[in-house]
Amino acid sequence: MGRLAIATALLALFKPAFVVAQLTNYTSTCISIASAISSASNVYYPYDVNYLSDISHYASSSAQNSTCSVEPGTAEDVATILQIVGRTKTPFGVKGGGHIMNPGYSSTPGVLISMTRFNSVVYDSSAQTAAVGAGLTWDSVYSALEPHGVNVVGGRVSGIGVAGYTLGGGYSWLTNQYGLSLDNVAAFELVLPNGTIINVTESSYPDLYFGLRGGYNNYGIVTTFTLRTYPQGQVWGGQLIFLGTDVVDQVNTATANFAANVTDPKASIITTVDFEGGVILASVLIFYDAPEPPSGIFDEFLAIPAFSSNVSTRSFLDLIQVEPTETSTGYRGYYNTVPLQEITPSILQLIVEQAQYWGSILSGDTENLISYDIEPLLPTILDHGSPSAYPPTRAQRFLPLNIYFSWTDASYDSDFYNAIVASQENITLAAMQEGQSEVGTAPRYPNYAIYNTPISYLYGNSLSTMSQLKARYDPDNVMGLAGGWKIY
Ligand SMILES: Cc1cc2nc3c(=O)[nH]c(=O)nc-3n(C[C@H](O)[C@H](O)[C@H](O)COP(=O)(O)OP(=O)(O)OC[C@H]3O[C@@H](n4cnc5c(N)ncnc54)[C@H](O)[C@@H]3O)c2cc1C
Ligand SMILES: *[C@@H]1O[C@H](CO)[C@@H](O)[C@H](O)[C@H]1NC(C)=O
Ligand SMILES: *[C@@H]1O[C@H](CO)[C@@H](O)[C@H](O)[C@H]1NC(C)=O
Ligand SMILES: *[C@@H]1O[C@H](CO)[C@@H](O)[C@H](O)[C@H]1NC(C)=O
Ligand SMILES: *[C@@H]1O[C@H](CO)[C@@H](O)[C@H](O)[C@H]1NC(C)=O
Ligand SMILES: *[C@@H]1O[C@H](CO)[C@@H](O)[C@H](O)[C@H]1NC(C)=O
Ligand SMILES: *[C@@H]1O[C@H](CO)[C@@H](O)[C@H](O)[C@H]1NC(C)=O
Ligand SMILES: *[C@@H]1O[C@H](CO)[C@@H](O)[C@H](O)[C@H]1NC(C)=O
Repeated sequence: MGRLAIATALLALFKPAFVVAQLTNYTSTCISIASAISSASNVYYPYDVNYLSDISHYASSSAQNSTCSVEPGTAEDVATILQIVGRTKTPFGVKGGGHIMNPGYSSTPGVLISMTRFNSVVYDSSAQTAAVGAGLTWDSVYSALEPHGVNVVGGRVSGIGVAGYTLGGGYSWLTNQYGLSLDNVAAFELVLPNGTIINVTESSYPDLYFGLRGGYNNYGIVTTFTLRTYPQGQVWGGQLIFLGTDVVDQVNTATANFAANVTDPKASIITTVDFEGGVILASVLIFYDAPEPPSGIFDEFLAIPAFSSNVSTRSFLDLIQVEPTETSTGYRGYYNTVPLQEITPSILQLIVEQAQYWGSILSGDTENLISYDIEPLLPTILDHGSPSAYPPTRAQRFLPLNIYFSWTDASYDSDFYNAIVASQENITLAAMQEGQSEVGTAPRYPNYAIYNTPISYLYGNSLSTMSQLKARYDPDNVMGLAGGWKIY
């Protein structure tokens, strides 16, 4: 409070335009925003409770201390904020659920725009859509829709934000049936970089409907997602945990068989191979979109002796909360990805070797977790939507292997960066050598790809259209002041 009062007094001594040009920190921008926004919105400073939750992220390495945070409560206030940061050239961040694993993508030393007040879910039973606020996590959305017996295509574990997840792609338990999350958006309410508020649908703004689906914050800030809804009853699934290399080998065989043989779109799994505390373990999240699965599909997994298991008939919300992922745990973390054509026994074997290799090399450094998520999906998942920035081609779907390294001590950031890049390169080369020839050039999933990945690897042939869109809707590069995958 004292600091704010002094700053306000100082500001009063100068003409605002002069102050804006001269100050070397961003406090004056915070003050301008605070005085321009409506009572639906607030600015917060370090040590306010709201400030601390605004800047928190799932990975502590993705967080930064901002000069202030602002929680806009209306799209008009988002417009006001964008106009002020644009005019003052103040770095800013846009945060949804705060789950991106790249530093600076939804954080900033300047003004952090936290979307948390866009928190409503409005179900329209006649249109079969739900208007969902950009500040929500999927947990809240599933919870609000459950009484209506409907659901949307969203996150597979607890805590993930609707906004970044949907704007980057969205691989869901329901993707085999209905496609990516970005293929299930009927409309985006978007605040353009110049402050104009529009409703983007496939017919109203086909260009932005293409670009926003994969393009994150490059074209403005989304305040509401209108998502298609589907009937949803109880589901069957949960988590199985397996310990030891012999058992993990059996899990790998079952995973390869599932990936190669299962064609029922209601069935889905994620197999995770972890190296933690000197031990290899596998966990499998299994999902079937009915109260009981048909026999056969999961039998091979269920026959392997599990260390623990909690598979049952449950609500969709309960199923995703099997894996809690709250923010502010203090763990640092990066993701990286390999777009696989196939999930083969040899790649699964290599993943175990890689987990052991990097786990042992890095084990002396700092408490850590080395983890690989294997995500089989049907070949037809991209048939459910029209062209979008990501994926740049729908001729073939690739399976996003999710590599996850986590540690505690910030002085090892570069070691873990180098390791997760080396592991991605190793698996890419091995896949190509066994005949998966397109893996080296296939689109990498932007929600998993590590920072410094050239954007052409994410967007491929979409890039030229995305750049034209950028020139059309953000000629002054206001959104370039925010972090993320940047289009020029
Ligand atoms: C534990 C965990 C589990 C995951 N599981 C899955 C999964 O099952 N499937 C899957 O596909 N992905 C998954 N992911 C990846 C996830 O999709 C990305 O991390 C995603 O970006 C998170 O969205 P967010 O809103 O939480 O992120 P944030 O960090 O808040 O934002 C990510 C990016 O989106 C931008 N952005 C945020 N809000 C807006 C907005 N309103 N308008 C414009 N731009 C905005 C930000 O500026 C930032 O660049 C998982 C991630 C984690 C950490
Ligand atoms: C930032 O600027 C404000 C005036 O707007 C001033 O009061 C404050 O001391 C400055 N802070 C730093 C760290 O320079
Ligand atoms: C933010 O500032 C606090 C207090 O100075 C400090 O303890 C913390 O490490 C900082 N966080 C980041 C992410 O820099
Ligand atoms: C945007 O368009 C969708 C789909 O037509 C509609 O359901 C929604 O109400 C519109 N939103 C606004 C704010 O106009
Ligand atoms: C698929 O199913 C067949 C027949 O059940 C089985 O022999 C085979 O090993 C399975 N896996 C693969 C990868 O084809
Ligand atoms: C089962 O579910 C709980 C949450 O309900 C979770 O914490 C636990 O790790 C899960 N997994 C297993 C294998 O028990
Ligand atoms: C990848 O790593 C494995 C060990 O995990 C090693 O045997 C192999 O030679 C490496 N491959 C490449 C192409 O570097
Ligand atoms: C903002 O940009 C849009 C799209 O380019 C344009 O239609 C609109 O007129 C602009 N608004 C202002 C106030 O300049």
